Amino acid sequence: MNPVLTVQTPAKINPVLEVLGKRPDGYHELALVFQAVSLYDELAFFKEKEGVRLEVIRSPHPLPADDSNLVLKAAKLFLKEIMGGKGGVRIQLKKEIPLAAGLGGGSSDAAATLKGLDWFFQTGLEDSRLQAMAAQLGSDVPFFLAGGTALGTGRGEKITLWESGPEISLVLVKPDAGLSTPAVYQSGKAVMTNGEKAKGFAAVLKTGSARKIGESLYNGLEPAAFFLLAEVEEIKKQLLDSGALGALVSGSGPTVFAMAESREKAEEIAWKLEGEGWTVFVTRTISTGIEKI
Ligand code: C5P
Repeated sequence: MNPVLTVQTPAKINPVLEVLGKRPDGYHELALVFQAVSLYDELAFFKEKEGVRLEVIRSPHPLPADDSNLVLKAAKLFLKEIMGGKGGVRIQLKKEIPLAAGLGGGSSDAAATLKGLDWFFQTGLEDSRLQAMAAQLGSDVPFFLAGGTALGTGRGEKITLWESGPEISLVLVKPDAGLSTPAVYQSGKAVMTNGEKAKGFAAVLKTGSARKIGESLYNGLEPAAFFLLAEVEEIKKQLLDSGALGALVSGSGPTVFAMAESREKAEEIAWKLEGEGWTVFVTRTISTGIEKI
């Protein structure tokens, strides 16, 4: 049986992530820039009489297809809130985005599930309705409904769309070990700042200069990621030593991304770092998000 619909959904990096403070609800107040990148998961949606079924077709690591999976959570939420418990769907997931990497893979899949089901059931939901469901699923999920480039505030779920900057070649480098997002936030090593760097980054993007953008990268969680996994600091050092325009831990890590002056330079840097046994992707910044394929 052919799927009714197939979508691709990108990974993200955070060129700027500022922690502003700790909130009474246990979350951290953030000002952060989201940037979609050309590394994609794919979801295919099939007709089913009732309920939700998930099949993981391909994944770089074992992935539970139980209720801890954000695709299942998102699909169940959609059927309950929008379909009144009626209707059914089978979803096949092909993962390229590594798990627990700081690249937003799970959040991206959750957003693609919501948007995909809106297309699949032709429910024509308003953006605000999708955004509200996305925010229930995780702080990073609302960004992926939009894609491209955006400022996130609150716990990261309040999204202001920005015009994307120039297309920049990227190298993503991930060590084998993952990092737990709560552990990074709770390590006591996060650096608090006032949000000016994140808000000012819009002007940096407007210069169109990959060099200036590379020099303006900042992540207040980076010292926490270095503290919990020393290998991450070594990756950043090697990326900078290899001639990257800038390098930074993405989100809560442990992936480090580097900006390069050209695709060729990115390939050259990737070649060097692959030799160290790390998982390496050559990608680029994109101005799009979830798309039908
Ligand atoms: O929202 P999400 O489920 O993705 O968050 C995972 C964990 O990351 C939270 O339980 C919290 O420990 C931490 N977090 C935080 N502040 C944020 C976002 C996430 O402390 N703004």
